[in-house]
Amino acid sequence: MTIIIAGGQFGDEGKGKIVSYLARTMELDAIARAGTGPNAGHTVVHNGKKYKLRLIPSGFFNENAKLYIGAGVLVNPNVLLQEIETTGVKGRIFVDYQTGIIEQKHIERDRKDNYLQEIVKSTGTGCGPANEDRARRVLKLAKDIPELEPYLTDVSDDLNEIIENGGEILIEGSQATHLSLIHGTYPYVTSKDVTAPTFAADVGIGPTKVDEVIVVFKAFTTRVGSGPLNGELPEEEIKKRGWVEFGTVTGRPRRAAPFDFSLAKKSVRLNGATSLALTKMDILYPEMKGKTKEQDIPRDAYEFIEKIEDVAKVPVKFISTGPSSEDLIVRDV
Ligand code: GTP
Ligand code: IMP
Ligand code: MG
Repeated sequence: MTIIIAGGQFGDEGKGKIVSYLARTMELDAIARAGTGPNAGHTVVHNGKKYKLRLIPSGFFNENAKLYIGAGVLVNPNVLLQEIETTGVKGRIFVDYQTGIIEQKHIERDRKDNYLQEIVKSTGTGCGPANEDRARRVLKLAKDIPELEPYLTDVSDDLNEIIENGGEILIEGSQATHLSLIHGTYPYVTSKDVTAPTFAADVGIGPTKVDEVIVVFKAFTTRVGSGPLNGELPEEEIKKRGWVEFGTVTGRPRRAAPFDFSLAKKSVRLNGATSLALTKMDILYPEMKGKTKEQDIPRDAYEFIEKIEDVAKVPVKFISTGPSSEDLIVRDV
Protein backbone atom coordinates (compact mmCIF):
# COMPACT_ATOMS: atom_id res chain seq x y z
CA MET A 1 0.00 0.00 0.00
CA THR A 2 1.34 3.42 -0.97
CA ILE A 3 -0.16 6.53 0.61
CA ILE A 4 0.57 10.16 -0.29
CA ILE A 5 0.01 12.98 2.22
CA ALA A 6 -0.61 16.38 0.62
CA GLY A 7 -1.51 19.85 1.90
CA GLY A 8 -4.87 21.26 0.83
CA GLN A 9 -4.43 24.96 1.66
CA PHE A 10 -1.31 27.18 1.85
CA GLY A 11 1.00 24.94 3.89
CA ASP A 12 1.29 24.35 7.64
CA GLU A 13 -1.95 22.35 7.74
CA GLY A 14 -0.26 19.90 10.10
CA LYS A 15 0.93 17.32 7.57
CA GLY A 16 3.79 16.49 9.95
CA LYS A 17 1.29 15.72 12.69
CA ILE A 18 -0.76 13.38 10.45
CA VAL A 19 2.37 11.59 9.20
CA SER A 20 3.53 11.18 12.81
CA TYR A 21 0.21 9.54 13.74
CA LEU A 22 0.36 7.15 10.76
CA ALA A 23 4.00 6.29 11.51
CA ARG A 24 3.02 5.46 15.09
CA THR A 25 0.15 3.16 14.10
CA MET A 26 1.14 1.56 10.76
CA GLU A 27 3.76 -1.08 10.01
CA LEU A 28 5.68 1.00 7.50
CA ASP A 29 8.62 -0.13 5.40
CA ALA A 30 9.45 3.36 4.17
CA ILE A 31 8.63 7.03 4.60
CA ALA A 32 9.72 9.19 1.69
CA ARG A 33 9.90 12.97 1.70
CA ALA A 34 8.60 14.83 -1.37
CA GLY A 35 7.95 18.54 -2.00
CA THR A 36 10.17 21.58 -2.57
CA GLY A 37 12.82 21.27 0.17
CA PRO A 38 13.91 22.91 3.44
CA ASN A 39 11.49 25.83 3.02
CA ALA A 40 9.10 23.46 4.85
CA GLY A 41 8.84 23.19 8.61
CA HIS A 42 7.01 20.15 9.91
CA THR A 43 6.23 20.09 13.61
CA VAL A 44 6.19 16.68 15.27
CA VAL A 45 5.28 16.14 18.91
CA HIS A 46 6.06 12.58 19.95
CA ASN A 47 6.41 11.16 23.46
CA GLY A 48 6.25 14.70 24.84
CA LYS A 49 9.18 15.87 22.72
CA LYS A 50 8.84 18.52 20.01
CA TYR A 51 10.80 18.36 16.75
CA LYS A 52 10.84 20.94 13.96
CA LEU A 53 11.87 19.12 10.82
CA ARG A 54 12.72 20.67 7.49
CA LEU A 55 13.98 17.61 5.58
CA ILE A 56 13.77 14.39 7.62
CA PRO A 57 10.40 12.62 7.21
CA SER A 58 8.04 13.33 10.13
CA GLY A 59 7.58 9.64 11.01
CA PHE A 60 11.33 9.19 11.69
CA PHE A 61 10.71 7.60 15.13
CA ASN A 62 9.24 4.44 13.52
CA GLU A 63 12.49 2.49 13.73
CA ASN A 64 11.42 -0.20 11.27
CA ALA A 65 10.88 2.32 8.50
CA LYS A 66 13.62 3.35 6.11
CA LEU A 67 13.61 7.09 5.43
CA TYR A 68 14.10 8.54 1.97
CA ILE A 69 14.47 11.94 0.33
CA GLY A 70 13.42 11.85 -3.32
CA ALA A 71 15.25 13.14 -6.40
CA GLY A 72 12.70 15.93 -6.85
CA VAL A 73 13.37 17.47 -3.42
CA LEU A 74 16.07 20.07 -2.70
CA VAL A 75 18.53 19.33 0.11
CA ASN A 76 20.63 21.79 2.08
CA PRO A 77 23.38 19.42 3.31
CA ASN A 78 23.94 21.47 6.52
CA VAL A 79 20.26 21.26 7.47
CA LEU A 80 20.08 17.55 6.63
CA LEU A 81 23.23 16.54 8.52
CA GLN A 82 22.10 18.49 11.57
CA GLU A 83 18.65 16.87 11.53
CA ILE A 84 20.21 13.39 11.15
CA GLU A 85 22.14 14.21 14.32
CA THR A 86 19.07 15.43 16.28
CA THR A 87 16.87 12.52 15.27
CA GLY A 88 19.54 9.79 15.42
CA VAL A 89 18.43 8.17 12.16
CA LYS A 90 21.89 7.55 10.67
CA GLY A 91 21.97 4.14 8.99
CA ARG A 92 18.35 4.25 7.80
CA ILE A 93 18.12 7.59 5.99
CA PHE A 94 18.83 7.72 2.27
CA VAL A 95 19.05 10.49 -0.32
CA ASP A 96 18.67 10.01 -4.07
CA TYR A 97 21.81 10.45 -6.21
CA GLN A 98 19.91 13.07 -8.23
CA THR A 99 18.52 15.16 -5.36
CA GLY A 100 19.28 18.86 -5.99
CA ILE A 101 21.65 20.72 -3.65
CA ILE A 102 21.11 24.14 -2.09
CA GLU A 103 24.39 26.03 -1.62
CA GLN A 104 25.06 29.22 0.35
CA LYS A 105 24.94 31.23 -2.91
CA HIS A 106 21.30 30.16 -3.43
CA ILE A 107 20.36 31.36 0.06
CA GLU A 108 22.08 34.68 -0.61
CA ARG A 109 20.37 35.08 -3.96
CA ASP A 110 16.99 34.32 -2.34
CA ARG A 111 17.56 36.85 0.48
CA LYS A 112 18.97 39.61 -1.71
CA ASP A 113 16.37 39.35 -4.44
CA ASN A 114 13.92 42.22 -4.03
CA TYR A 115 11.16 40.51 -5.97
CA LEU A 116 11.42 37.26 -4.00
CA GLN A 117 11.62 39.05 -0.66
CA GLU A 118 9.15 41.91 -1.11
CA ILE A 119 6.58 40.55 -3.58
CA VAL A 120 6.60 36.76 -3.23
CA LYS A 121 7.87 36.93 0.38
CA SER A 122 9.85 33.71 0.05
CA THR A 123 11.18 31.81 3.06
CA GLY A 124 14.74 32.86 2.13
CA THR A 125 15.97 29.25 2.28
CA GLY A 126 17.44 29.23 -1.24
CA CYS A 127 14.82 26.93 -2.76
CA GLY A 128 13.67 29.24 -5.57
CA PRO A 129 17.19 30.08 -6.85
CA ALA A 130 18.24 26.40 -6.60
CA ASN A 131 15.25 25.30 -8.69
CA GLU A 132 16.14 28.08 -11.16
CA ASP A 133 19.63 26.55 -11.44
CA ARG A 134 18.15 23.09 -11.84
CA ALA A 135 16.05 24.34 -14.75
CA ARG A 136 19.24 25.82 -16.25
CA ARG A 137 20.90 22.40 -15.65
CA VAL A 138 23.77 23.86 -13.63
CA LEU A 139 22.65 22.78 -10.13
CA LYS A 140 24.86 20.37 -8.18
CA LEU A 141 23.24 17.05 -7.29
CA ALA A 142 23.66 14.94 -4.14
CA LYS A 143 26.12 12.64 -5.93
CA ASP A 144 28.52 15.64 -6.26
CA ILE A 145 28.74 16.19 -2.49
CA PRO A 146 31.31 13.97 -0.60
CA GLU A 147 29.54 14.49 2.80
CA LEU A 148 26.40 12.88 1.40
CA GLU A 149 28.19 9.82 0.00
CA PRO A 150 27.17 7.49 2.91
CA TYR A 151 23.49 8.25 2.35
CA LEU A 152 23.19 7.93 -1.43
CA THR A 153 20.84 5.49 -3.11
CA ASP A 154 18.43 5.19 -6.03
CA VAL A 155 15.24 6.08 -4.14
CA SER A 156 12.99 5.12 -7.05
CA ASP A 157 14.52 1.61 -7.28
CA ASP A 158 14.30 1.07 -3.51
CA LEU A 159 10.67 2.20 -3.24
CA ASN A 160 9.55 0.25 -6.29
CA GLU A 161 11.15 -2.90 -4.85
CA ILE A 162 9.22 -2.36 -1.61
CA ILE A 163 6.02 -1.99 -3.66
CA GLU A 164 6.78 -5.16 -5.66
CA ASN A 165 7.22 -7.05 -2.37
CA GLY A 166 3.84 -5.84 -1.06
CA GLY A 167 5.30 -3.34 1.43
CA GLU A 168 3.86 -0.19 2.99
CA ILE A 169 5.06 3.27 1.98
CA LEU A 170 4.12 6.74 3.13
CA ILE A 171 5.03 9.65 0.85
CA GLU A 172 5.16 12.90 2.81
CA GLY A 173 4.55 16.00 0.73
CA SER A 174 5.38 19.52 1.87
CA GLN A 175 3.99 23.00 1.10
CA ALA A 176 0.47 22.74 -0.33
CA THR A 177 -1.82 22.75 -3.33
CA HIS A 178 -2.45 26.51 -3.48
CA LEU A 179 1.30 27.22 -3.24
CA SER A 180 1.88 25.17 -6.41
CA LEU A 181 3.87 26.92 -9.14
CA ILE A 182 1.47 25.43 -11.69
CA HIS A 183 -1.94 25.34 -9.98
CA GLY A 184 -1.56 27.82 -7.10
CA THR A 185 -2.05 31.57 -6.59
CA TYR A 186 0.77 32.57 -8.98
CA PRO A 187 3.08 34.47 -8.51
CA TYR A 188 2.63 34.05 -4.73
CA VAL A 189 3.71 30.42 -4.80
CA THR A 190 6.71 28.14 -4.26
CA SER A 191 9.14 27.16 -7.04
CA LYS A 192 7.57 23.87 -8.21
CA ASP A 193 4.32 21.95 -8.35
CA VAL A 194 3.39 20.64 -4.91
CA THR A 195 0.37 18.41 -5.54
CA ALA A 196 0.12 14.62 -5.14
CA PRO A 197 1.03 13.71 -8.76
CA THR A 198 4.33 15.57 -8.40
CA PHE A 199 4.97 14.06 -4.96
CA ALA A 200 4.82 10.60 -6.61
CA ALA A 201 7.22 11.81 -9.32
CA ASP A 202 9.53 13.41 -6.71
CA VAL A 203 10.27 9.99 -5.21
CA GLY A 204 10.20 8.05 -8.49
CA ILE A 205 6.89 6.23 -8.26
CA GLY A 206 4.42 5.97 -11.15
CA PRO A 207 0.80 7.16 -10.68
CA THR A 208 -0.64 3.62 -10.93
CA LYS A 209 1.36 2.61 -7.82
CA VAL A 210 -0.39 5.08 -5.54
CA ASP A 211 -3.28 3.58 -3.54
CA GLU A 212 -4.41 6.47 -1.36
CA VAL A 213 -4.07 10.24 -1.25
CA ILE A 214 -4.84 11.90 2.07
CA VAL A 215 -5.29 15.67 1.73
CA VAL A 216 -4.75 17.55 4.98
CA PHE A 217 -6.75 20.67 5.87
CA LYS A 218 -6.59 22.87 8.91
CA ALA A 219 -10.02 23.66 10.42
CA PHE A 220 -9.36 27.30 9.47
CA THR A 221 -7.05 28.70 6.78
CA THR A 222 -3.60 30.14 7.44
CA ARG A 223 -1.05 31.64 5.09
CA VAL A 224 2.44 33.07 5.56
CA GLY A 225 3.91 35.51 3.08
CA SER A 226 1.84 37.30 0.46
CA GLY A 227 -0.98 36.34 -1.91
CA PRO A 228 -4.77 36.18 -1.76
CA LEU A 229 -6.50 34.84 1.34
CA ASN A 230 -10.28 34.73 1.07
CA GLY A 231 -12.03 36.12 4.18
CA GLU A 232 -8.76 37.22 5.81
CA LEU A 233 -9.30 38.35 9.42
CA PRO A 234 -7.70 41.37 11.09
CA GLU A 235 -4.96 40.64 13.63
CA GLU A 236 -7.23 41.51 16.56
CA GLU A 237 -9.87 39.00 15.46
CA ILE A 238 -7.22 36.26 14.93
CA LYS A 239 -6.11 36.82 18.53
CA LYS A 240 -9.68 36.83 19.83
CA ARG A 241 -10.37 33.48 18.17
CA GLY A 242 -7.12 31.93 19.44
CA TRP A 243 -5.91 31.25 15.90
CA VAL A 244 -2.49 32.90 16.34
CA GLU A 245 0.39 30.91 14.78
CA PHE A 246 3.99 31.59 13.80
CA GLY A 247 5.92 30.08 10.84
CA THR A 248 8.10 27.10 11.78
CA VAL A 249 10.99 28.15 9.51
CA THR A 250 10.72 31.94 9.39
CA GLY A 251 8.95 32.78 12.67
CA ARG A 252 6.64 35.10 10.73
CA PRO A 253 3.06 35.44 12.06
CA ARG A 254 0.60 33.43 9.99
CA ARG A 255 -2.35 35.24 8.40
CA ALA A 256 -5.69 33.57 9.05
CA ALA A 257 -9.22 33.20 7.66
CA PRO A 258 -12.18 30.88 8.15
CA PHE A 259 -12.23 27.52 6.29
CA ASP A 260 -12.67 28.05 2.54
CA PHE A 261 -14.90 25.33 1.07
CA SER A 262 -14.33 26.15 -2.61
CA LEU A 263 -10.55 26.20 -2.11
CA ALA A 264 -10.89 22.77 -0.50
CA LYS A 265 -12.93 21.38 -3.38
CA LYS A 266 -10.24 22.46 -5.84
CA SER A 267 -7.57 20.75 -3.72
CA VAL A 268 -9.52 17.51 -3.57
CA ARG A 269 -9.67 17.48 -7.36
CA LEU A 270 -6.06 18.51 -8.04
CA ASN A 271 -4.71 15.85 -5.68
CA GLY A 272 -7.19 13.08 -6.43
CA ALA A 273 -7.91 12.78 -2.71
CA THR A 274 -9.28 9.46 -1.44
CA SER A 275 -9.80 10.78 2.10
CA LEU A 276 -9.24 13.94 4.13
CA ALA A 277 -7.60 14.83 7.42
CA LEU A 278 -8.77 17.82 9.44
CA THR A 279 -6.37 19.35 11.98
CA LYS A 280 -6.75 21.84 14.83
CA MET A 281 -10.34 20.84 15.52
CA ASP A 282 -9.48 21.38 19.21
CA ILE A 283 -8.89 25.05 18.43
CA LEU A 284 -12.30 25.42 16.78
CA TYR A 285 -14.03 23.17 19.34
CA PRO A 286 -12.05 23.29 22.62
CA GLU A 287 -14.09 20.43 24.15
CA MET A 288 -12.43 18.13 21.56
CA LYS A 289 -8.91 18.67 22.94
CA GLY A 290 -6.95 15.40 23.13
CA LYS A 291 -9.98 13.28 22.23
CA THR A 292 -9.46 9.97 20.38
CA LYS A 293 -12.97 8.54 19.89
CA GLU A 294 -15.60 9.27 17.27
CA GLN A 295 -18.29 9.52 19.99
CA ASP A 296 -16.40 12.55 21.33
CA ILE A 297 -17.17 14.69 18.28
CA PRO A 298 -19.75 17.32 19.32
CA ARG A 299 -22.80 18.02 17.16
CA ASP A 300 -21.63 21.37 15.71
CA ALA A 301 -18.24 19.86 14.79
CA TYR A 302 -20.05 16.99 13.07
CA GLU A 303 -22.07 19.45 11.02
CA PHE A 304 -18.85 21.20 9.94
CA ILE A 305 -17.33 17.84 8.93
CA GLU A 306 -20.45 16.87 6.99
CA LYS A 307 -20.42 20.18 5.16
CA ILE A 308 -16.83 19.54 4.06
CA GLU A 309 -17.73 16.03 2.90
CA ASP A 310 -20.69 17.38 1.00
CA VAL A 311 -18.44 19.71 -1.00
CA ALA A 312 -15.44 17.37 -1.28
CA LYS A 313 -17.32 14.12 -2.03
CA VAL A 314 -14.68 12.18 -0.07
CA PRO A 315 -14.74 11.23 3.61
CA VAL A 316 -13.01 13.11 6.43
CA LYS A 317 -11.27 10.11 7.95
CA PHE A 318 -8.76 11.70 10.34
CA ILE A 319 -9.60 14.39 12.88
CA SER A 320 -6.73 15.89 14.81
CA THR A 321 -7.43 17.12 18.32
CA GLY A 322 -4.01 18.33 19.48
CA PRO A 323 -0.36 18.65 18.40
CA SER A 324 0.80 15.27 19.75
CA SER A 325 0.95 12.18 17.49
CA GLU A 326 -1.61 10.56 19.83
CA ASP A 327 -4.30 13.27 19.65
CA LEU A 328 -6.37 11.92 16.79
CA ILE A 329 -9.78 10.45 15.99
CA VAL A 330 -9.98 7.96 13.11
CA ARG A 331 -13.51 7.72 11.75
CA ASP A 332 -14.81 4.46 10.37
CA VAL A 333 -15.65 5.78 6.89
P1 GTP B 1 4.67 22.55 5.98
O1 GTP B 1 5.26 21.39 5.26
O2 GTP B 1 5.68 23.61 6.33
O3 GTP B 1 3.54 23.11 5.23
O4 GTP B 1 4.15 22.16 7.53
P2 GTP B 1 3.08 21.21 8.25
O5 GTP B 1 1.88 21.00 7.37
O6 GTP B 1 3.73 19.97 8.72
O7 GTP B 1 2.57 22.08 9.50
P3 GTP B 1 3.40 22.88 10.64
O8 GTP B 1 4.00 21.86 11.52
O9 GTP B 1 4.24 23.93 10.08
O10 GTP B 1 2.18 23.65 11.37
C1 GTP B 1 1.14 23.05 12.02
C2 GTP B 1 1.11 23.53 13.48
O11 GTP B 1 -0.08 23.07 14.09
C3 GTP B 1 2.24 22.95 14.34
O12 GTP B 1 2.56 23.89 15.34
C4 GTP B 1 1.60 21.70 14.94
O13 GTP B 1 2.21 21.27 16.16
C5 GTP B 1 0.21 22.18 15.18
N1 GTP B 1 -0.85 21.16 15.09
C6 GTP B 1 -1.03 20.19 14.15
N2 GTP B 1 -2.20 19.55 14.36
C7 GTP B 1 -2.78 20.13 15.44
C8 GTP B 1 -4.02 19.95 16.12
O14 GTP B 1 -4.85 19.13 15.77
N3 GTP B 1 -4.24 20.75 17.21
C9 GTP B 1 -3.37 21.70 17.63
N4 GTP B 1 -3.70 22.42 18.69
N5 GTP B 1 -2.22 21.91 17.00
C10 GTP B 1 -1.92 21.15 15.92
P1 IMP C 1 9.70 29.82 -1.17
O1 IMP C 1 9.17 28.45 -1.42
O2 IMP C 1 10.66 29.93 -0.02
O3 IMP C 1 10.24 30.45 -2.44
O4 IMP C 1 8.46 30.75 -0.76
C1 IMP C 1 7.41 31.08 -1.66
C2 IMP C 1 6.08 31.24 -0.94
O5 IMP C 1 5.65 29.97 -0.41
C3 IMP C 1 6.14 32.17 0.29
O6 IMP C 1 4.90 32.84 0.39
C4 IMP C 1 6.31 31.22 1.47
O7 IMP C 1 5.81 31.77 2.65
C5 IMP C 1 5.47 30.03 0.99
N1 IMP C 1 5.95 28.75 1.57
C6 IMP C 1 6.96 27.97 1.10
N2 IMP C 1 7.08 26.85 1.84
C7 IMP C 1 6.12 26.90 2.79
C8 IMP C 1 5.73 26.02 3.85
O8 IMP C 1 6.28 24.94 4.06
N3 IMP C 1 4.68 26.42 4.62
C9 IMP C 1 4.02 27.59 4.38
N4 IMP C 1 4.35 28.45 3.40
C10 IMP C 1 5.39 28.10 2.61
MG1 MG D 1 5.16 24.23 8.19
